[in-house]
Amino acid sequence: MMGTKAARETSLPSRGHAARILHQVLQGAPLESLWEDRVPGPDTAFIREIVYGTLRFYPRLALLLSWVTPKRRPAPLVEALALTALYQLLHLRVPAHATVHESVEAAQALGLAHAQPFINAILRRVIREQAQWLIRLDDSEIGRYAYPPWWLDLMRQSWPEAWPALLLAGNARAPMTLRINRNRISREDYLNVLESREIEGRPGKLAATAIVLERPLPVEKIPGFSEGFVTVQDEAAQLAVPLLDPEPGMRVLDACAAPGGKTTHLLEHTRGCISLEAIDRDAERLEKVRESIRRCGYTVSGLLAADARKPLQFYRGTPYDRILLDVPCTGSGVVRRHPDIKVTRTRDSVDLIQVRQLELLESLWPLLNRDGRLLYVTCSLFEPENDGVIGTFLEQHGDVQLLDQAPPGTHRTGFGCISLTGEWNQDGFYFASLVKSG
Ligand SMILES: C[S@@+](CC[C@H](N)C(=O)[O-])C[C@H]1O[C@@H](n2cnc3c(N)ncnc32)[C@H](O)[C@@H]1O
Repeated sequence: MMGTKAARETSLPSRGHAARILHQVLQGAPLESLWEDRVPGPDTAFIREIVYGTLRFYPRLALLLSWVTPKRRPAPLVEALALTALYQLLHLRVPAHATVHESVEAAQALGLAHAQPFINAILRRVIREQAQWLIRLDDSEIGRYAYPPWWLDLMRQSWPEAWPALLLAGNARAPMTLRINRNRISREDYLNVLESREIEGRPGKLAATAIVLERPLPVEKIPGFSEGFVTVQDEAAQLAVPLLDPEPGMRVLDACAAPGGKTTHLLEHTRGCISLEAIDRDAERLEKVRESIRRCGYTVSGLLAADARKPLQFYRGTPYDRILLDVPCTGSGVVRRHPDIKVTRTRDSVDLIQVRQLELLESLWPLLNRDGRLLYVTCSLFEPENDGVIGTFLEQHGDVQLLDQAPPGTHRTGFGCISLTGEWNQDGFYFASLVKSG
């Protein structure tokens, strides 16, 4: 894995590490896993900044590179190095000469000595002609917004008026937000604890449990984190459990549970007094759910690696009163946290994901009690994954009633409600509450 290899190659300069990690992501490696076993060092923050930033603006930077080198596309690792350097030139306040010098050096360290003149030439040309390149980039939608063409189309269709603002919000940096376990401490008291440690935070505006930190911190430095006083979770994500409204004594299924942000919220919300089954298809990710439950001081017997589309793998025959269906999705509402989805998703993947979302809904609906409630959740702003899925489901089922729920700060859609990325500095989330009738 890249992280291990990169950690061992201490002679590789930061920009070389960054180019290599970017190269791996462009080849299909999951971005998060590349950091997991990387030894944190003084340059880690800088490498991370370059990798995340280059991915955030990838469509814009790739367009520029294609203009500067119209005749032939460079080899993949050379291209990755060039893109990281363009990101620094256009978006970071690093002296341009340092970027050129260090990137040319990094080429050598990466075994790309033959590409040093190329890297040097294109960077110097972009610096020389920067004003005209910037005008040309701003004249094109890909250059201005930094999203692939299919994404621009889908957003325009989904949000005919708001799409430009939503795209720009997706390029911003996301805050670190905490969810307070109010069984342990009030939000006010926790804000006082933060103040006493000189950590700046403010109450969230959408969720009564949210505190937004002024600056992100490693979790080890968050007071009370390891004792379960707080959990890191975006503010819009904190709306899900109150919308599902589980009551003590109910049987609840968390059908796509990992990494467990909403599982622990279900337990906190009900003081652990529900019969909870949490499943996820990914056994490795399910371990994170187990760890979060333990950290928050709860125990849960029904934790199982299973495919929610195959009830035989987990269902014991007693219907659920509540089902939380936080489906796998494109993640277009959380792109500011996961900019790699700009390169890993395609228009086809939206269609495939939509099929999977419908399959999940179809398989779980029969397991819901009469008058029971299922909350369908995505972190996407694409209409086909949201009202698109619910609309198709409604056409095929006569025993569904929709609850009209739209907490303050969200917007009603045809069948549910949505929180729009960045409006309150929160992520984009869609919710639809389905009640079983008849
Ligand atoms: C959006 S994430 C869930 C986030 C989680 N609810 C939370 O709040 O932390 C979607 C999850 O669905 C899981 N998943 C995807 N397909 C599944 C399936 N067929 N059955 C069960 N889990 C599935 C993925 O492994 C992933 O962990």
